Amino acid sequence: MIQNFRHTPMNLSLIGFMGSGKSTIASRLADNLGFDFVDTDALIEKTASKSINEIFNDEGEGVFRKLESQVLEDLVGREGLVIATGGGIVTNKRNIQSLRELGIVFWLDADVDSILERVSRNNERPLLQTKDPRKTIVNLLSQRSDLYNQCCDERIPTDGLSVEEISFGIAESARLWFSKMSYFDMSVKLEDQVK
Ligand code: S3P
Repeated sequence: MIQNFRHTPMNLSLIGFMGSGKSTIASRLADNLGFDFVDTDALIEKTASKSINEIFNDEGEGVFRKLESQVLEDLVGREGLVIATGGGIVTNKRNIQSLRELGIVFWLDADVDSILERVSRNNERPLLQTKDPRKTIVNLLSQRSDLYNQCCDERIPTDGLSVEEISFGIAESARLWFSKMSYFDMSVKLEDQVK
């Protein structure tokens, strides 16, 4: 399951398309692991004192993206976080770097039908206020799937699984990562002692 172990701070980030369940699962995971739950969209809204829709409408996507990079960078250096990110966070290379510096990255991968079903429940996503949201989702997914893949340590296929099943799987995987990290930390310390 764990392919490329790397040393990271103790944080988990969830990336993936709009409607893939990042916030719900991140909040569940944070409870499960005793970590703090952080949502970059919520931080942006707090910083701007506006909703995401208002930021897009009043100031445009460019301003939103700058705020997104800023709130993410501000998290670097903290530990014990489960971070839910906005679906477009990977479109900026600097953000991919920040996410990888922050900790382990899980990609919640969902198919077009389940995304469409979830995002139709509200109109809080400015990029999907189009004539043909399915087509928009397909186009954006084709631009972003490679980026999610590049950015993540693990891809989690979510279709057909419940929130409980997904969060349980990620929590177990995260525990394994973190226990390996303590093991590596210990072996580094032992090596130092031997010298
Ligand atoms: C966006 C996803 C949204 C939000 C903004 C832009 C995107 O977050 O950041 O509307 O570009 O995919 P969710 O993925 O939480 O819906």
